[in-house]
Amino acid sequence: MKPSLCHKSFSKIIFVTTLAVLLAVSGLSQTPKAKPKVPTTDSASNQPVPLRVSQLLKRMTVDEKIGQMMQYFQFLPDTTAAEEMAGKGQAGSYLFVTDPKTINRLQHAAVEKSRLHIPLIFGFDVIHGWRTIFPVPIGMAASWNPKLVEEVQTVAAREARAAGIHWTFAPMVDIARDARWGRIIEGAGEDPFLGSAIAQAQVRGFQGSHIGAPEHLLATVKHFAAYGAADGGRDYDATYVPDVLLWNVYFPPYKAAIDAGAGTVMSAYQDLNDVPATGNSFLLRDVLRKTWKFDGFVVSDAAAVYSLKTHGFARDTSDAAYKALKAGVNMEMAFPELSSATGTSEGVKGPETIPGQHSYDVALKTLLKDGRITEAELDAMVTPILTAKMKLGLFENPYVDETRTEAITTTPAHRQLSRSAAQQAMVLLKNEGKLLPLAKSLRRVAVIGTLADSQKDILGSWVFQGKTEETVSVLQGIKNKIPDASVTFIRGAEIKRLFPSPVEFPPALPVPDQSEDQLREQIDQAVNAAKQADVAIVVLGERQNMSGEAASRSSLQLPGEQERMLEAVVATGKPVVVVLLNGRPLDISWTANHVPAILESWYPGSEGGNAIADVLFGDSSPGGKLPFTWPRSAGQAPLYYAHNLTQEPETKKDFKSRYWDASSFPLFPFGFGLSYSTFEFSNLHLDKAEIPGDGQVRASIDVQNVSDRPGDEVVQLYIHQRAGSASRPVRQLKGFERITLKPQEKRTITFTLGHKELEFWSPQTKQWAVEPEQFDVWIGADSTASAHAEFKVIPKVH
Ligand code: NOJ
Repeated sequence: MKPSLCHKSFSKIIFVTTLAVLLAVSGLSQTPKAKPKVPTTDSASNQPVPLRVSQLLKRMTVDEKIGQMMQYFQFLPDTTAAEEMAGKGQAGSYLFVTDPKTINRLQHAAVEKSRLHIPLIFGFDVIHGWRTIFPVPIGMAASWNPKLVEEVQTVAAREARAAGIHWTFAPMVDIARDARWGRIIEGAGEDPFLGSAIAQAQVRGFQGSHIGAPEHLLATVKHFAAYGAADGGRDYDATYVPDVLLWNVYFPPYKAAIDAGAGTVMSAYQDLNDVPATGNSFLLRDVLRKTWKFDGFVVSDAAAVYSLKTHGFARDTSDAAYKALKAGVNMEMAFPELSSATGTSEGVKGPETIPGQHSYDVALKTLLKDGRITEAELDAMVTPILTAKMKLGLFENPYVDETRTEAITTTPAHRQLSRSAAQQAMVLLKNEGKLLPLAKSLRRVAVIGTLADSQKDILGSWVFQGKTEETVSVLQGIKNKIPDASVTFIRGAEIKRLFPSPVEFPPALPVPDQSEDQLREQIDQAVNAAKQADVAIVVLGERQNMSGEAASRSSLQLPGEQERMLEAVVATGKPVVVVLLNGRPLDISWTANHVPAILESWYPGSEGGNAIADVLFGDSSPGGKLPFTWPRSAGQAPLYYAHNLTQEPETKKDFKSRYWDASSFPLFPFGFGLSYSTFEFSNLHLDKAEIPGDGQVRASIDVQNVSDRPGDEVVQLYIHQRAGSASRPVRQLKGFERITLKPQEKRTITFTLGHKELEFWSPQTKQWAVEPEQFDVWIGADSTASAHAEFKVIPKVH
């Protein structure tokens, strides 16, 4: 497969980033000047924002307008070239600057030196934390707790803002139904209803009550649209998604995030039905602006405007700029040229010049001169960018207070929240014979698996500021929990990618090659350690760089020889607990058949090891639920619970499988997760048997904790429309609530089903409608819930 442009540039950047470290160490990076007074030409700062923007626009030259539409990567500590551009008004934004001093220095250039003193907006991928790292997004979705998700992103925003960042490229809300796709880790899984709730919670967390709320960020909904449907699960590959799936499955989380007030949208890399998303006016104009009334701004994904050429969609750079602008991309995320002037320096060997990838600054002026675009179009593009900067208060407060950064980003309460979020995200997949929780009185514990001792992998992907030395590994967490026990650690099978990640920086430390003899020796040691222990805790999964961007896989098997190692440990006959560290479902059929206890911990973040130990030893009871259907193998992809019924339904007696060589059922269903408590559901009741299309029906159920431990349950409601203008999924999630119940406590949970939950976009009528049909309702602990009731939507009487 031909590597994508971004792919290539990132590889170069990895090299340049290494140089950056050298430069920083050699003291070449400059120290900022004292915090300057803020000059302003925006004299009317007490006026309404639209008026201020239009007054400012009138004073801007075409070059200054185009400058505002440019966002450049800035990886290097040497900011000479970037400062120069900012001082000339040639850049509206920088991304990947993480040092508050550097941010202030660049901002100083924009605010003090540029003609109109327009501040820069600094962006960054604050995906699951800044310095305090929280569980990866798929893990946060597994908490099924939007309030927690909001709290977590509030803290992430607070820390990032304290470092000078104004804008995050999150939430990623792409629905993912194919676990081979590496970026499944960054979203909320397969379901539009859960995905929408999580998307909204993230926007509320990042942005606060409004754009410009103190200590908050501007949010970006990405990657618009349907990036998660990549052919074969291969990152960046084309997507072919029919309207019926766009409207009913892929679009809803974006729409939900926009309804929650998200200020920006990122256009995706890939072709959608043969039109690249970044040049796709159906997406960016018809859907986003016209139908959803989005009034923020669209930023392209990295070099996605420039790469309209490599898609074979644009003829040249000018055509790329033209097509992106016409489609509705306000700001181009671009790579500047890197040369001795922009990054490298005498005495440091480096790449001579790396060509840039940028288009708007190259082409828009000529397009204007040639009459292919108008200045009014440019104004319309710049307006929402300036509006966002004003709403964020950047004209009044462009600088970050560097003296507060350290204290805010090391706030102990943030770490506590990270630990509690990690606990709530974990999903207990199996617990035969109540092996878990383990007793703290255990004397000898074997901890096995290379991932157990890693302070890096446990953080997951998209972590740049989280410090590995401040991270609690699984091994350390277990030692902290049972300080008096003897804990033996065996590294076991080493794992690594066949092809290195092109988007990992700093690049991963090389994993040592392991010969067959060395592996055998490690397995022998693991077996001996298990034999001498009361219990073996085997930590399995994927390294940090095995999921995320450019981290798709053709198989879902446990990488390397982890399973072989596990088989040997299980053969000792000792009790074995498997802890998974991963961002996607893996092919763990053997594990599920042979190991009594399996805990999915995702990549749980800075406090991960402590949180895992909390759950393993019963200080916290797991209550997370799967946000995706867990396949048995990659061959089942795409697999999702909300599939349609067929002429040969799976509910039919004697139905075995759609495959002749394996089961077509998942290993674990969507919404599944066990607890140390036991819950019983009873008395499913609907308050009406019939409702009009604009009516509502209330569904309630009693949930009781019938165990002697407090615990969490996620009560889930699913519906099915029995007939209509189109076939409808066998089940669809339409309500959920995570509750905590004391031992023996019973609570009645009520959901309301109305227009929003019952409507769908029909491929026949091409309209949204609630159809007058019979509906099934199920409520329970996962998508196989059996408590059932039904109601009818009655036709309108004319
Ligand atoms: C490429 C990724 O696709 C996108 O999600 C990210 O925000 C940008 N790079 C910036 O890092």
